[in-house]
Amino acid sequence: DATLGQLAAAKGRYFGSATDNPHLSDPVYKQILGSEFGQLTVGNTMKWQYTEPSEGRFDYEAADTIVELAEANDQTVRGHTLVWHNQLPDWVNSVPSDRLLNVMRNHITNEVTHFKGRLIHWDVVNEAFEEDGSRRQTVFQQKIGDGYIAEAFRAARAADPNVKLYYNDYNIEGIGPKSDAVYNMVKSFKQQGIPIDGVGMQAHLILGQVPSTLRQNIQRFADLGVDVAITELDIRMDLPRTAAKDAQQANDYTRVVEACLAVSRCVGITVWDFSDKQSWVPSVFPGQGAALPYDENYNKKPAYYAITAAL
Ligand code: XIL
Repeated sequence: DATLGQLAAAKGRYFGSATDNPHLSDPVYKQILGSEFGQLTVGNTMKWQYTEPSEGRFDYEAADTIVELAEANDQTVRGHTLVWHNQLPDWVNSVPSDRLLNVMRNHITNEVTHFKGRLIHWDVVNEAFEEDGSRRQTVFQQKIGDGYIAEAFRAARAADPNVKLYYNDYNIEGIGPKSDAVYNMVKSFKQQGIPIDGVGMQAHLILGQVPSTLRQNIQRFADLGVDVAITELDIRMDLPRTAAKDAQQANDYTRVVEACLAVSRCVGITVWDFSDKQSWVPSVFPGQGAALPYDENYNKKPAYYAITAAL
């Protein structure tokens, strides 16, 4: 049977998975990761905490392991993520205001340069908006000001003119105040010539709650002249699983795949890891889980077959 990656490729898209270094010691996991997907996202080890744990000391060893694995399996890689308020080492929070812009630029320049030519996308800035569309009051926002996002994109472009530069966030899959804020930012970046190539919709979704405006929302971003990617898809349910919930989840995955395929600039879909064994969901949303297309024993769930049918 064709894999998820092959089916997506036949539609001019990719279908990928996030992964993380500790998982790779499981041979069954590694075999599925390497064969089923056309694209990988490094789930943790490209984040600032890992790549610049103290100022000016850069470490790409763990991330390189995953990039090399992807290359060996002919998979593309999305870079995730350069500027984010989480998994940020403490030292960054103590940088004085007059130095933080240069610290941010230096981090971006070093990391983008390290991976130059080996990634298809970078999530340059992650999760910069609140639900009401206001700016999240991160250290970057507070010490650099509104312009930090544009500065981050400029620094990334200067370091690698070819990698596609993405803004990535959650709860921007449907039309609403938060996606409106991202929309307005992308529109103004385009008007000002600030380099942005894409918007990543994380899509950490809840069972039965795929936004009805998903396709329309992807389309309005595409109409601004940027690509869209579904970057961290999972669809969580209240545990335990039941056949009815699995069926609803399969339907939900179908709707996400169909929405992406309906817009030519929706370039691909990445699940936030592929098996319920490795999912981040149970640790962050107590009582919820079973969000991914494979169960914790690596059996394919109804969601898997729904994705293959929709692709
Ligand atoms: C998560 C990872 O999956 C976890 O292992 C880690 O402990 C925390 O971060 N949005 C993002 C991702 O952009 O980087 C997050 O990944 C999930 C939410």
